[in-house]
Amino acid sequence: MISKRDGRKIPKHIAVIMDGNGRWAKKQGAKRIFGHRSGVQAVRDITEGCTELGVDHLTLYAFSTENWSRPQKEVDGLMTLLVKTINVELPTLMKNRVRLTAIGDLQGLATGVYKNLSLAIDETKLNKGLNLILALNYSGKWDLTQAFKVICGEVIKGIIKPEIIDEDLVSEYLSTKSIPDPELLIRTSGEMRISNFLLWQLAYSEFFFTEVLWPDFRKKHLNLAIDSFNDRERRFGQTSEQLDFQ
Ligand code: FPP
Repeated sequence: MISKRDGRKIPKHIAVIMDGNGRWAKKQGAKRIFGHRSGVQAVRDITEGCTELGVDHLTLYAFSTENWSRPQKEVDGLMTLLVKTINVELPTLMKNRVRLTAIGDLQGLATGVYKNLSLAIDETKLNKGLNLILALNYSGKWDLTQAFKVICGEVIKGIIKPEIIDEDLVSEYLSTKSIPDPELLIRTSGEMRISNFLLWQLAYSEFFFTEVLWPDFRKKHLNLAIDSFNDRERRFGQTSEQLDFQ
């Protein structure tokens, strides 16, 4: 059980780039898919940890638009694992009142994957606990591009006047519409980049990078990330002195 601990600020939205499954498997002399399968335990632990802490939204980068270029066997293995995990975990999601949602180009997923995902999303839609957002066939550039396409279409139809386009309006056309931007981004495995994740939404997020490989990531590491988040001064372009007077 992870505790809120006195006075600690808990981010409302945490986004995670789950990285290092392949390297974790290689270290054990196993195939990459073994690393992905072991990563599911970390997904479970972190989802439970976020529920215990009262986090509102947890976004997991589960499959990027670029991941299609991996060997076909690995892509198939990941999709099978995704469907199996969703089906196996559904009763636990219901028990813990977790609402499953997804962002990304979901129509681009195989029909079977899309159907299973949609059923789980529908089944959990009234749950009032953590919103667990799977980013699937997702990339930040895809998200911005699809938003621009819709906005341009509405401008042509006269629904939107170009002069009213502002940051809030753009946010409303992204797949994360009505979800607050992540306050904290965690990336495992020592890589320090955002790999085409939530490009717009991460503008003011705090970043936490750890050497821990995703299959080893547990609540205690989540705790360290939140401690680090609490040590940061979030200035949003202002000076420290200005913040003191707020
Ligand atoms: C990155 O590690 C991981 C992925 C691309 C997939 C993440 C998937 C899971 C953790 C399993 C299923 C998830 C859910 C939500 C059910 P990598 O393969 O890039 O590792 P490497 O950098 O060491 O090669």
